[in-house]
Amino acid sequence: MAKKIVVENREWEKKENKFKYCEALENGNILFFDAPPFPFPQDEIDFLLKQKQGGSAARKNIAYKPQIDKITNHDTKDPASALRLKEILSNYSKRVTEFLSVLLSPYAKQWKHDYASFRPFQEKGRKLRLRARNDLLHVDAFPTRPLHGSRILRFFTNINPTENRVWNTSDDFAELAKHFAGKVPVPQSPGYDLLSRLTRKMKFFARKAGVKVPLRSPYDQFMLQMHNFLKENQQFQQNCHKDRWEFPPLSCWAVFTDQVSHAALSGQYALEQTFIIPQKALLCPEKSPVCVLERLSGRNLVDTELLQKQLHL
Ligand SMILES: [Fe+2]
Repeated sequence: MAKKIVVENREWEKKENKFKYCEALENGNILFFDAPPFPFPQDEIDFLLKQKQGGSAARKNIAYKPQIDKITNHDTKDPASALRLKEILSNYSKRVTEFLSVLLSPYAKQWKHDYASFRPFQEKGRKLRLRARNDLLHVDAFPTRPLHGSRILRFFTNINPTENRVWNTSDDFAELAKHFAGKVPVPQSPGYDLLSRLTRKMKFFARKAGVKVPLRSPYDQFMLQMHNFLKENQQFQQNCHKDRWEFPPLSCWAVFTDQVSHAALSGQYALEQTFIIPQKALLCPEKSPVCVLERLSGRNLVDTELLQKQLHL
């Protein structure tokens, strides 16, 4: 079960703590900060809190893509307010990155700076299709952006001035994989049979022709299946051991969400920044989901040929 590791008193600046927080995360724990460990101007928070919850609660979160400096899923008709929103999310993204470059310095040179998101919706009672529901326990997986064994690290901030953000967590990936071995099929190793080699070839051609087909490794396929299996498994959702987490106003937390099973039960107005951590940057790679799964199944689940193609196409 995930433990709460309180980070305080600028302990991250001490040399002896260089590896402490990366190890805590890789052991399936949650780093907790009772206030943002970087400047967060009140006028930026006030602007975000004024963003109205849209008519459809089925809408996605607002995403900020740092590589192209763009926001998506934002429906404002007012260009000045869209620009201000983008500026605030960009500022948040930069400040989190700058801070984590110190706190998690062993990762900083190799991570991929992924999307930030603003979550203006009340999670309690939010109407989403079952597989998209945030209030059901799950481990994260990306349906359209395969990770080939890289990790999903997320940093959150609750900017709601009065309401806690409430999570449940349950067992970590290693326990879940052991428990559900056999129920969630582990795909065959890459290039195992003629059909999988042909499918792979067709995907290469499709991508060369400009069609955005995700090149999933067996690991990515498994993680998606596991994500869906857990959300659809009523018995697991009802009977598994749960720990309740209350994240108060202005607190922050960081966690590997592909490892710690989690559910957001309630709360409105949170920010989040994602980092993709490659296997080679990890301090304890043997604890990562891909290694756990390869040990359990005795199969190679990362397709290095696909990975190279993905990087170059
Ligand atoms: Fe999640």
